[in-house]
Amino acid sequence: MTQKNLFTTCTLGPYQLSNRVVMAPLTRNRAAPGNIPTPLMALYYKQRASAGFIITEATQIMPEGQGYPNTPGIHSQQQIEGWKQVTQTVHEAGGKIFLQLWHVGRISHSLYQPDHVLPVAPSAIAPSGQVYTLEGMKPYETPRALETREIPHIIECYRIGAKNALAAGFDGVEIHAANGYLIDQFLQDGTNKRTDIYGGSVENRTRFLLEITQAVIDVWGADRVGVRLSPNGTFNDMSDSNPRALFSHVIQALDALHVVYVHLRTGTEADIRHGRQPIPIKTLRPLFQRTFILNDQFDRAKGDAAVAQGLADMVAFGSLFISNPDLPLRLQTNAPLIPPDSSTFYGGTEKGYTDYPALQITE
Ligand SMILES: Cc1cc2nc3c(=O)[nH]c(=O)nc-3n(C[C@H](O)[C@H](O)[C@H](O)COP(=O)(O)O)c2cc1C
Repeated sequence: MTQKNLFTTCTLGPYQLSNRVVMAPLTRNRAAPGNIPTPLMALYYKQRASAGFIITEATQIMPEGQGYPNTPGIHSQQQIEGWKQVTQTVHEAGGKIFLQLWHVGRISHSLYQPDHVLPVAPSAIAPSGQVYTLEGMKPYETPRALETREIPHIIECYRIGAKNALAAGFDGVEIHAANGYLIDQFLQDGTNKRTDIYGGSVENRTRFLLEITQAVIDVWGADRVGVRLSPNGTFNDMSDSNPRALFSHVIQALDALHVVYVHLRTGTEADIRHGRQPIPIKTLRPLFQRTFILNDQFDRAKGDAAVAQGLADMVAFGSLFISNPDLPLRLQTNAPLIPPDSSTFYGGTEKGYTDYPALQITE
């Protein structure tokens, strides 16, 4: 039997996928006023439809969940209509697309908040560093700790966001529980000092994620819901006293809910510099029965090896998908890869967005 690699077909819940190369979620800050997806965004995603499946850029489930300019939402009718153009063009091109559901929590600023109130978080702890606002860079503010009685409303907004994603024609949703945003802030004890049922023990800190996941499953069914985690990540000033115990529990609890995939960032050099001892993926992989997606600085050789060894079922690529719209074909044929231009990552026009060329195939 031949070994599996990135180009062996696979199934994901109800879907048959043509390869195991996932387009990672990538914030590109190009939504129109009202945080509405545009026809240019539809073209961008269509160009990348040869991915095994696409995970969209992070998309706020409620206005309070925003922390950057021009990020799309999934809480208004116009946003649903905007996303319909995206899902339709991706489907016409034969692709599959999941929406990433997002709330930034403390990684915001009152300038982004309705009525300019403080951002919310599990505990009133400011992240170090600065936030980009339309008035320039500003120090992060100390967020307001959510009252226990406010939490059901946020979970309800995830449920409504999931329902809106269904109406917009997506194939599934990914819950963004990585990278130091609201759900991760509840998971890790550097940011969660709560004394109610959402803080303290690993079980209590995981409760917020699991309640959201159940609400989203109620809309979509577990076989079209994935969850993204960054167990080795320190981005956005994150820390935890025992990440291995925490994330082992989280992955097992997600397994018990039968979500279709767990999408893990494996961590970067920067995380190690920030003092994080990476949890070996081989200790986490056996804790989850269904599709396991890995990400962070993969290339074809590393991706093929992870799939062949059974460490990953699929591999997500981020920055390379920005500059190589036909990345699966380029990887498969060992074609040259175009390096991405980081100056056009966050906001702007079609430049550095939809003008990266696909390979010219000559007969
Ligand atoms: C421009 C840019 C935007 C990103 N936006 C998101 C996002 O919206 N949601 C998310 O979960 N990760 C986001 N990430 C992280 C990527 O999904 C991915 O984890 C990271 O780029 C590492 O993968 P790579 O080494 O293949 O680039 C972003 C990364 C970049 C470079």
